[in-house]
Amino acid sequence: MQNAFISGTGFFVPPRVVTNDDLVKTYGIDTTHDWIVQRTGIEARRFADEGVGSADLGLEAARAALADAKLDARDLDMIVFATLSPEYCFPGSGVLLQRKLGLCDGDSPKFVPALDVRNQCSGFLYGLHTATAMVKSGACKHVLLVGGETHSAALDLSTRGRTVASLFGDGAGAVVVSATGEDRGVRGVWLGADGRGADMLAQKVWDIRKRPFIPVDANGVGQVVPEMMFAQMEGKAVFKNAVEKMCLALMQACWETHVDPKEIDLFAFHQANLRINQYVAKTLGLPEEKLLNNIQRYGNTTAATIPILLAEAAREGRLKRGTKVAMVAFGSGFTWGSAICDF
Ligand code: ACO
Repeated sequence: MQNAFISGTGFFVPPRVVTNDDLVKTYGIDTTHDWIVQRTGIEARRFADEGVGSADLGLEAARAALADAKLDARDLDMIVFATLSPEYCFPGSGVLLQRKLGLCDGDSPKFVPALDVRNQCSGFLYGLHTATAMVKSGACKHVLLVGGETHSAALDLSTRGRTVASLFGDGAGAVVVSATGEDRGVRGVWLGADGRGADMLAQKVWDIRKRPFIPVDANGVGQVVPEMMFAQMEGKAVFKNAVEKMCLALMQACWETHVDPKEIDLFAFHQANLRINQYVAKTLGLPEEKLLNNIQRYGNTTAATIPILLAEAAREGRLKRGTKVAMVAFGSGFTWGSAICDF
């Protein structure tokens, strides 16, 4: 069986920087820079302009990853798109990206399959498992895996929503997963889920069991109630579960691959809260200098956090041939995952 390796990385974040102070000045949120930094490490995030969606951000990231892999979109055999902020309920962002990549154009369109992954902060690792399996099985030679989010449109940017609104930002990251006969690549991906946490971090903008399925307030039709429109989160429970499951997921990845955590060169942890990652690192005795973090600049970009970290590390020269990287994520669902990859 052939191996699957990450042949290219890319990322894109929208140019508009929104600092913690901007949340106060522009949106009138009752918060402070110090409150957000002390609890989360976040100093700023990026917000996309109206008219821009996750597939648009994903397109820029995908182009960069394809260029890095020295491939053309037409070399792809499949697209996997992980997001919790797709343009529409359906279809997913994968087909929109396929169209934007020009794969439907011309006399000989290439109608590659486009799969959408709905696993929130673990979406990239669920996608990596899928992409790796497709490549290792021989079904695909090159799979484009994108994590892209446009959170800003669906945040409650008011004091009422400040706990969640101060955490999230927009952005996209992409990798190309390719076949190789060499002894390198994705050594394994381990995934988990605990449906008991399904209500602790959720955006239930509709409930298909109800009539009408989009909730309305007491006064009239079509007036979506804010608790339904925006994400609801039990922050402390999420924090506690994240630390526990991320530690276990990383240990499982090391155990299964017979890798001592000391042998790992870089840790690409999901960027939900800098304090979560510092806690995990401290619990497992990992040196902070091996942790890739960008939450300070981008906030939580959910499915995009890990591929953005990889792309930034590659561009900084920290991700070279032979670099051993451990990836870990936890998020809504609850879902989580870990992976070990030799670049
Ligand atoms: N600025 C000022 N005050 C705030 C803010 C803010 N941005 N947000 C909340 N507060 C207030 C609250 O209103 C509350 O006030 P009260 O005591 O008067 O009611 C007080 O601060 C404490 O609120 P808590 O929610 O208890 O604060 P906590 O210490 O738990 O920190 C935080 C909140 C940072 C969100 C934390 O719980 C956390 O990081 N949780 C994990 C988040 C996470 O990992 N999300 C998962 C990934 S996302 C995904 O999967 C999609």
